[in-house]
Amino acid sequence: MRESSLQDTLVLHVLGARPNFVKAAPVVNGLADLGIRQGIIHTGQHYDALMSDVFFADLGLPEPIANLGVGSGSHAKQTAALLVGLEEVVERENPSLVVVYGDVNSTLAAILVCAKLGVPTAHVEAGLRSFDRTMPEEVNRIVVDSLSDILFATSPEALSYLANEGVPSSKVHLVGNPMIDSLFAALPKLDPVPVQERLGVTGKYAVATLHRPANVDDPAAAKELVDAVLGVAEQVPVIVPLHPRGRTRLAEAGLVDGPNLRIVDPLGYVDFLSLVRGSVLVVTDSGGVQEETTMLEVPCLTVRPNTERPITVTHGTNRLVTPASLPAAATVALAEGATTPSGDLPMLWDGKAGPRIARVIASWLQGENLSPASRNAVGD
Ligand code: UD1
Ligand code: UDP
Repeated sequence: MRESSLQDTLVLHVLGARPNFVKAAPVVNGLADLGIRQGIIHTGQHYDALMSDVFFADLGLPEPIANLGVGSGSHAKQTAALLVGLEEVVERENPSLVVVYGDVNSTLAAILVCAKLGVPTAHVEAGLRSFDRTMPEEVNRIVVDSLSDILFATSPEALSYLANEGVPSSKVHLVGNPMIDSLFAALPKLDPVPVQERLGVTGKYAVATLHRPANVDDPAAAKELVDAVLGVAEQVPVIVPLHPRGRTRLAEAGLVDGPNLRIVDPLGYVDFLSLVRGSVLVVTDSGGVQEETTMLEVPCLTVRPNTERPITVTHGTNRLVTPASLPAAATVALAEGATTPSGDLPMLWDGKAGPRIARVIASWLQGENLSPASRNAVGD
């Protein structure tokens, strides 16, 4: 039931994995500025200090009201644990609205639980599509968007994708990208020198992050990828802050410390972006890193056959490559530096997405119907 005043409302955020924390911080801050009562449920999908705690510290996120500690497992086991844990907390807390982020299993489970309990939901980062259902995230995106009550889109193409799937436009708000709000907030702290000194990096270097199942789970694919990264390391030293998912498989495939290759633990948010800011090239299969490199104007080579973030290619520094084409693409990127086809940065990636989202949520909590003019896009 929607309340007519903000008093007595409660907004819960369900967060579980590294990119969730980065996207949520600006929304949490925006709601706090409006005096809205809120709490974070940490599912524990990511649990290592370097995958979780460091983000709460770097982003200034408040302590979660609950940590479900679901941990790792197959998709079925992890999702089952998430469903059981989330149902209990959501029933107990009886929120007015649950906000979910991105496309991870914690996001999917939260949407399913809330849909069954009749609790309204909002999805931040709605309408991204790779049109590749072999990606677990694509399955999650489709289900999450079909069940969400409020959908916050980061880029314009999401509006037509959602319309094509039958999502009423009245539910959709183009608000910009909260991941970029976090980047803007971190900018004054982004100093490459301390992290370079700590890692013993001097001169020009590239940064690589790799963790997509299609790249790291299968030994043959992992070998092809590692050979390609070694092809880049012949041209420029490569630092690899390695996600735990790829650690064993990529090492078996030959991704080990060498003269021009440095494998390190995942970095905290500020350290990672500092390292990227000082780099001449990023090689990645991350979603968020495609966006951040666009804003930092660092050339980005994404080792994937597709992207759910095409705006980083049309309006940013991102290029899709295969393992086979990566070394030659790196040669070009190192020679040309950052280039963007359109010259314009993505619309509304201006550091104000969190406050926009907070205002829509506040209006929704108060039972106000936003006029069509205030959707697509939500203004400052
Ligand atoms: C998840 C998301 C993916 C996102 C990524 C961000 C899903 C389906 N996938 O992938 O979309 O890009 O997070 O980083 O939700 N592990 C640890 N420590 C941790 C967390 C994980 O060692 O703190 C290891 C475990 O061995 C685990 C593996 O990483 O089995 C995978 O973790 P999981 O949460 O299942 O998925 P990610 O690959 O991290
Ligand atoms: N990131 C980080 N340390 C690292 C690698 C990535 O802080 O060692 C940050 C990165 O800046 C971005 C987020 O983690 O904000 C992206 O998460 P990830 O690549 O794990 O997930 P995806 O975006 O692919 O879902």
